[in-house]
Amino acid sequence: MTAKIPFQENENIKIYIDGKLYPREEARISVFDSLVQGGDGVWEGLRVYDGRVFLLDEHLERLIDSAKAMAFENIPETEAIKSALFETLEANDMRDKVHVRLTLSRGKKVTSGMSPHWNQYGPTLIIIPEWKPPVFDKSGVKLITSSVRRNPPSCLDSRIHHNNLINNILAKVEANLAGVDDAIMLDLDGYVAETNATNFFIVKSGALATPSLGACTPGLTRQLIIDLARENDIPCREGNVSMAEVYAADEAFITGTMGEVTPISSIDGREIGQGSITSEIRKLFRQKTELEGQKLPF
Ligand SMILES: Cc1ncc(COP(=O)(O)O)c(C=O)c1O
Repeated sequence: MTAKIPFQENENIKIYIDGKLYPREEARISVFDSLVQGGDGVWEGLRVYDGRVFLLDEHLERLIDSAKAMAFENIPETEAIKSALFETLEANDMRDKVHVRLTLSRGKKVTSGMSPHWNQYGPTLIIIPEWKPPVFDKSGVKLITSSVRRNPPSCLDSRIHHNNLINNILAKVEANLAGVDDAIMLDLDGYVAETNATNFFIVKSGALATPSLGACTPGLTRQLIIDLARENDIPCREGNVSMAEVYAADEAFITGTMGEVTPISSIDGREIGQGSITSEIRKLFRQKTELEGQKLPF
């Protein structure tokens, strides 16, 4: 099979694994690593804008809280993860238009098996920085509703930002087969949870509505949009959002670090209007990314 790397500049990136930088073709983890054995890791996707890492403290707090919830041992300190991140970005001469996938696995095991008892080396920290502008077409994405439901907290707490993404991937497979960008995943009661990769908002009569945190990822972009809306007198409700409300929405958009704020143009083949509230929210979000974030020390 021939492989095509998106953005040619990414052919020469250096990847950080446990204190060392490797050319991408030599960046490897053990077959005994917990990620291989059971998707047993936690991760963050971060963005670098013009020499600043956006929402860095918030991302690292979610990472470390997720690792604590999964009972990892020897979790690295926030400052140690920050310096590994800065070292990686500096080695790659990356200061703008960069997306970073930062993963902390439970680490290498002494034998294959499920129990954390076999994890005797401490966690593995992996930092993959890539040149990657926001991934979605800003003229609007097309979605379908997936038949795969999002895990409810009774199965797997959505506040844990873990690497066990199989149900999201199954939903994405449905979206790919349907020739659309992504798929809405419902919760067990049939209300919208989120998409396979982003949080979800509708706009109706000048007000926003977004699913509450029960079955959706506690997205940092989602929270920022809720805060920005409230500061700017745009009402925002967190609660159940039904598909009937979605089809009748005036506008709808998705949010996430990878794609920022992206309007939705159709859902299940039904057109969704494009309007001024989504544009206003995008403008407010852009103002934040242009000004805020932790400055790189190089
Ligand atoms: C399933 C899912 N929903 C939403 C998000 C958006 O979260 P954030 O805004 O923190 O990037 C992510 C990102 O990791 C995700 O994987």
